[in-house]
Amino acid sequence: MNRAQLARELLGHLRSQKAAGISYVSLGARPEAVAEVARPATAPPARAPEPEATPAPEQHTLIPEAARVSAPTLAPMAKRRDPGPEPSPLPFDPDAEMTLDGLQAAVDGCLRCKLGPGRTNLVFGVGNPAANLVIVGEAPGANEDAEGIPFVGRAGQMLTKMIENVIEVPRQEVYICNILKCRPPGNRNPEPDEIDCCEPYLHKQLAIIRPRLILALGKFAAQWLLQTKTPIGRLRGKFGRYQGIPCLSTYHPAYLLRNPRDKKLVLEDLLKAKAVYHGETEAEIELFR
Ligand code: URA
Repeated sequence: MNRAQLARELLGHLRSQKAAGISYVSLGARPEAVAEVARPATAPPARAPEPEATPAPEQHTLIPEAARVSAPTLAPMAKRRDPGPEPSPLPFDPDAEMTLDGLQAAVDGCLRCKLGPGRTNLVFGVGNPAANLVIVGEAPGANEDAEGIPFVGRAGQMLTKMIENVIEVPRQEVYICNILKCRPPGNRNPEPDEIDCCEPYLHKQLAIIRPRLILALGKFAAQWLLQTKTPIGRLRGKFGRYQGIPCLSTYHPAYLLRNPRDKKLVLEDLLKAKAVYHGETEAEIELFR
C-alpha cells in the first residue's frame, strides 16, 4: 500500500470512529509519525522558506485536535535577551567629590557603550556649573555631535527662545545636558543599554550642580528623571521630584518643530517653570514616587 492509499484508509477509519462518537484518539509517543503519513508525497522539504506574503493554506491533516494541543512542546524556545558584554568600569568614583570640569575630563574618552566609537564629539553639557535650573534633553543630534555642545541645531534655537523669552533667563545662566552624551546613529531613540551605560554621568552632573529646578524635555528625559513609564502626554505640565529636586516635564522642542500646534501647551508648562525659578511660587508636586 502506498502513502496515499494508507492516508485514505486512515482517514476513512477516523471518520468511522468519529461517527461512532469517538472524539479522541491517542497518538502514543510519536505524533510525528501520523503527521508524516498525512503529508502529501509532493510536500516541500520541511526547511524550505515560506513566502512571507502568502498566508498558509488551512490545514486539513489527519492529526486530531487532541494531538495538536501538544504543539507548545514543539514550539521554538523563546529568544533570550542577549545581555551583551559587561560595560567597562566607570572612569570616575561616583562617591568622590569632584567638579564638573573634573567629571567632563574623566568621561571624555568614554567607550562604555556602542555609541562611543561612532561619535565626533562627546556632548557632555554646557552652561553655569552653579545653575539653579538644569535642562535635560534626550541625545545629541548631528549638529551637537559636530560641535560637542548640546542643543545647537534647530531644536536648540527653539530651546533658547523657550529659556530666554518665556522663562526669562539668559541661556548661559542655566545648565543644559542630555540623557545620552553621544549621538545615536540617524538620531534614533536611545536604547536601554546605552542609557544604562550613560546614566551615571547625568546622576553625577546633577549631584554636583544640585539645581533648584530641573526641566525635562520629552519622553526619555521625563521618564528617566521621574523613573516612570507614564507617557509624556500625561507627565507634561506636572512637577515630580528627582532626588528631592522639583522636576517639570514638557514636550521636546524637536517635537514642537513637527507639531507647532502644541506650542501653547509648552508655553503653559514653561510659565510654571518661570514662576518657580523666579521664586514667585512653590512647585506643586503632583507626581509622587
Ligand atoms: N535634541 C536633544 O535632545 N538634545 C540635543 O542636544 C539636541 C537635540
